[in-house]
Amino acid sequence: MTTTPTTPLTPSLIATLPGRHYTDPDLFRQEQERIFESLWFCAVRAADLDKPGAFRTVQIGRESVVVTRNRAGELRAFLNICRHRGARLCLESVGEVRRSLQCPYHAWTYDLDGKLIAAPNLASLTDIDRSAYGLRPVHLREWLGYGWLCLADEPPSFEETVIGAAVERLGDVAAIDRYGVAGLALGKRITYDVQANWKLIVENFMECYHCATIHPELTDVLPEFADGLAAQYYVGHGAAFGAEVKGFTVDGSAGFGRLDGIDEEQDRRYYAITVKPTVFVNLVPDHVILHRMFPLGPDRTVVECDWLYAPEVVASGADLSGSVELFHRVNSQDFDACERTQPAMSSRAYRDGGVLVPSEHHIGKFHRWVREQITEPGTDSALSPPPSPGACTSVSP
Ligand code: FES
Ligand SMILES: [Fe+2]
Repeated sequence: MTTTPTTPLTPSLIATLPGRHYTDPDLFRQEQERIFESLWFCAVRAADLDKPGAFRTVQIGRESVVVTRNRAGELRAFLNICRHRGARLCLESVGEVRRSLQCPYHAWTYDLDGKLIAAPNLASLTDIDRSAYGLRPVHLREWLGYGWLCLADEPPSFEETVIGAAVERLGDVAAIDRYGVAGLALGKRITYDVQANWKLIVENFMECYHCATIHPELTDVLPEFADGLAAQYYVGHGAAFGAEVKGFTVDGSAGFGRLDGIDEEQDRRYYAITVKPTVFVNLVPDHVILHRMFPLGPDRTVVECDWLYAPEVVASGADLSGSVELFHRVNSQDFDACERTQPAMSSRAYRDGGVLVPSEHHIGKFHRWVREQITEPGTDSALSPPPSPGACTSVSP
């Protein structure tokens, strides 16, 4: 007797991206143009610009952008390019000016809203409309206490592409609002210079298949993460602290009081959100950890990681090292793994890519998303569709 399956067989292994997606300068250039320079990019923590005239410069794709606070106390972002002959305006990554930004080349001077307010001899050129020579503004939104920038002429919907990531993960925006992230204070920042492609870091963050192998401290606190195949479920739905665990700390000792506003369901749980392309948000009852990535090359990504606590906790001078150390170890373990993987991306062994086991299959969705952003029909065979899932089912892990 012949039976007909009612559902298709699920392949146990599906293909990853080929190695060149992690090494090829041309593919990275396309990602710069069509991902980092086209989507909302989380650039600065708003509170780092604590007064009018404070500024930061950040690299977004191929552009340098200066973010500052104007006299009215609002964040402003501009391309870091003088409108005269194109000199870089702000040379430092962090700084402060009193009232204006002055180009170090010929002293064209712009106010904190980007308006050209002075330039040597310009007053004698009566036919010049100064308002036409202000700094080029960059779209800016504030969310979670960070300035999110978009270099596109017409940015995609912030609600759908940024806030939507949290909604997709947590069910509704109220669930993240309850942590009051914008009102938290910076307890610690660690910057990691990772010698790996940004996508390896995203893929690593999106799966927990590796947790049992490389994160002993994390799996002590979140025992569900030690169950490699099922762990992915808990990443999305909130992983429960172990019964004996008192707090999200390196040794499971007590942390701080629960943040105001979070509900019972969110207590004693860890939630992780990936906001494409470059942000990870980690929510636990007494603090929030937010990663911002700055992809600087096919094989180099700077990651800034902020540990955020209730303002009174930071103001009290409390010892934060127990909770900082837990995720600092997780970061170091993750980034070491990414750096071990990066060299193999240019090996002939990975020319056609590798495979994802079932608990990693959702990463395939990320790969499809990356390909959709960079695909330019008929320009590059590297961008042809990935092999069908069935093509990999005979490969052993
Ligand atoms: S290039 Fe800036 S003032 Fe000339
Ligand atoms: Fe990890």
